[in-house]
Amino acid sequence: MNIAVIGRGKVGGGLADRWERAGHTVTRIGRDGGDASDADAVLVAVPSGRIAEALGKVSGLAGKIAIDATNPFAGRDEKYESLTHQVKSIIGGPVAKAFNTNFADLYDQIDDQRVRPSNLYAAEDGARAVTEQLSHDAGFDPVLVGGLELARALEEHLMGLEARPLERASAASFTAMQGRENSSAFKQDECRRFRLGAAMPIDLTEYAEGINNGLAEGTFCVLATCGQRGPDVGFKGSMQVFDKDHLCYWERTRSGHLANLRSDPRVGVMYFNRERGKYLRMYGSAGLYEDGPTREQIMTRTPVPELEKDPERRGIGVLIRVDRLVEPFGGVKQEREGDTVGNQG
Ligand SMILES: NC(=O)c1ccc[n+]([C@@H]2O[C@H](COP(=O)([O-])OP(=O)(O)OC[C@H]3O[C@@H](n4cnc5c(N)ncnc54)[C@H](OP(=O)(O)O)[C@@H]3O)[C@@H](O)[C@H]2O)c1
Repeated sequence: MNIAVIGRGKVGGGLADRWERAGHTVTRIGRDGGDASDADAVLVAVPSGRIAEALGKVSGLAGKIAIDATNPFAGRDEKYESLTHQVKSIIGGPVAKAFNTNFADLYDQIDDQRVRPSNLYAAEDGARAVTEQLSHDAGFDPVLVGGLELARALEEHLMGLEARPLERASAASFTAMQGRENSSAFKQDECRRFRLGAAMPIDLTEYAEGINNGLAEGTFCVLATCGQRGPDVGFKGSMQVFDKDHLCYWERTRSGHLANLRSDPRVGVMYFNRERGKYLRMYGSAGLYEDGPTREQIMTRTPVPELEKDPERRGIGVLIRVDRLVEPFGGVKQEREGDTVGNQG
């Protein structure tokens, strides 16, 4: 594919490198402008306040498929519903909002991931196939959130996180972090705390309220186990934060997961709550407590509706030592120091 990249900075330059490695031909256009006549697709990756000026210097754009990666950190023209609508008003072809929720400084870590990072995108039908292919060829897993009407939501998503208090900033995206870094009010050392690669020790405190209310809020944790009978996955409505670095749940069904845990303690736990802005993956090792004080403590924490499904209290307390926690969109990584069970993800 011939791709014209408008904006050859972190995003434009970074994606251009990745696309070239995937076999595409890329024309890199900076603030001096250029020609996009040969392009099958155009990427817009300039500061949001410069969209009109940047596109105005590029010839051959009319009717091209355009992917807009901009975020409104440099302002927006409120005449348009979203920055992507503004791009469409100039170029006129099918448009997509994509790549704006992924932090460019992490592009060089994409290939190290066991699971491809997601690239959330909103697109008109005519831009979907190209966006999917170019997401894939850049190393991402494209995830369609909807049509052009959702472009603004993807832009606001980041700004909303940016506006959150610092104490809750672990949910903030790296793009948001970049914006904070540029602001004098944001201390550099606080920003660095949240950078991927500078792993923090495990601390589940800020996630406890959400996870502990998972049953009431209908956002149950999902547990994945592995064992001799193969993998198993399922909701665990009783999942709770036990302490700073442990989760627990009441194993009342005593079926597939229990059989797996008896032969292999490794587990993965996923928690997702759109309202709370939390998407977590936790990896660790489970211990089974069939009697004794730890089982009693776990039972005490178990939400009543879950215990009522086990009137004879035959359940087993499962204590999960969390060795690693990641927020895929937030760039947060917590990791236990020293020996872990070696789970990946
Ligand atoms: N950095 C991230 O992690 C990230 C992630 C997602 C989305 N975004 C968004 O993507 C866009 C680009 O971000 P970036 O980090 O790549 O920025 P950047 O590294 O600062 O690069 C900006 C690019 O825009 C060009 N540019 C600046 N002013 C221009 C003008 N008046 N006319 C034409 N071109 C102009 C620059 O051209 P020259 O090369 O000629 O200087 C440069 O190539 C922004 O909207 C940003 O919010 C950033």
